[in-house]
Amino acid sequence: MCMKNLQNNAITVLNNNWKDKFSIPCAKLYPFQWFWDSGLIAIGFAHFDMPKAEKEIETLLDAQWSNGFIPHIIFHTETDTYFPGPDFHRSDLHPESSKKYKSTGMTQPPVTGFVLEDLYRISKDRDATLKFIESVIDKVYKNHEYFYNQRDPQDEGLVYIYHNWESGTDNSPIWDDIWDTMNPPEYTFERRDTTHVDAAQRPSKREYDHYLHIIEIAKQNNYNDQKIAELSPFLVQDPLFNAVLLKSNQSLIDLYRIIGNKNNNDKIHQLQKWQDKGTKSFNNKLYDEELGVYVHYDLRNEKLLKHISSSSFAPLFANLPSETRAEKMVDIMMEKFGNPDQYLCASFDPTSDRFNPKKYWRGPVWVNLNWMLYYGLKQYGFYDIAKRMKQDTIEIIENNGFYEYFDSRKEEHKNGNAGYGGHNFSWSAALFIDLLNE
Ligand code: GLC
Repeated sequence: MCMKNLQNNAITVLNNNWKDKFSIPCAKLYPFQWFWDSGLIAIGFAHFDMPKAEKEIETLLDAQWSNGFIPHIIFHTETDTYFPGPDFHRSDLHPESSKKYKSTGMTQPPVTGFVLEDLYRISKDRDATLKFIESVIDKVYKNHEYFYNQRDPQDEGLVYIYHNWESGTDNSPIWDDIWDTMNPPEYTFERRDTTHVDAAQRPSKREYDHYLHIIEIAKQNNYNDQKIAELSPFLVQDPLFNAVLLKSNQSLIDLYRIIGNKNNNDKIHQLQKWQDKGTKSFNNKLYDEELGVYVHYDLRNEKLLKHISSSSFAPLFANLPSETRAEKMVDIMMEKFGNPDQYLCASFDPTSDRFNPKKYWRGPVWVNLNWMLYYGLKQYGFYDIAKRMKQDTIEIIENNGFYEYFDSRKEEHKNGNAGYGGHNFSWSAALFIDLLNE
């Protein structure tokens, strides 16, 4: 199919997933608004419908709690096709949660800061877009303030996540190391995800017991951050999550400067402090010399989780590694993930025995990570590899359609059924549009 038609299809996907004031990631499997999906979707809309891009962000920020927290799912509608839904999550337990929207009590990678900068980059009417940014930017600042005040118990400039669903890479094999330290009860519940997609692509029942158990502990403590830091069996400093936060910090600094109002100087100063401290700790703590890449740190059990995943390369996007480290990382990416029979970039180390190219976050290629890695590689001047990252991303969509994730093995793409998970998936469409037009 020619690129123009494919781009029109992407626009149709986004328009069909638009629900008056926000977007769903895809029909059936994910019927609400998700935090980082929402941000990435706005980047797609910005190319052809800026009012929708702005509304998407406004709705997301409207669900912000009074302590600055932004939830990972905002349950705009009642539906029993999703588990666990609002009655399980019970965001009302937290005294500062939104009175207007039911949500989860966990968050997701804080993309909003850099998304605002992307809207500005893409906009054809920058003055108008800057006005919009001015109207929402303090809410995003407040979200960062929440992270640094509530999620950084050792005052390192690095924030923790307390649930695998906060990472965005929900079913990564990295979490197996944490599950080994836990022994949750056997819960009785009815899953809905496996009625929408093949169970072989989704987590097991036992894995779900772990997910629910962590939420039960958080709920018993009314989602109090200090209590969670004390008691959650899952407490991890994630390189993707922290890279996204630092990238967004930088965007907020740049945008406040462009806005140029003296009243914002204190905020710029504070952001810069978080940025300096965070960058230093990130490079000292999350880099593994032996592997030559960034890895996750298990704050509960005080050790590095030594696995290479696509998250290991996300620091390139936030401009965190030195040139020397970046070179080493990219060598490793190409050596382990860049084989000519593989599409870039598998979500987990293809040379590991935990690699599974069909299963949700355990190996398939995800468009959102590829998009970040593309910009990261370009920023460091790895133009050829960036070009391949972009071409591979376009090709997997051309071969299969706008799926949630894709098999990393090229030979699986011959019959056009190497796309897995949800179909007509919003961020795959949105970031495809951005890649075609950047
Ligand atoms: C899956 C992904 C998560 C995403 C959500 C909605 O749970 O792991 O990152 O936000 O789907 O698309």
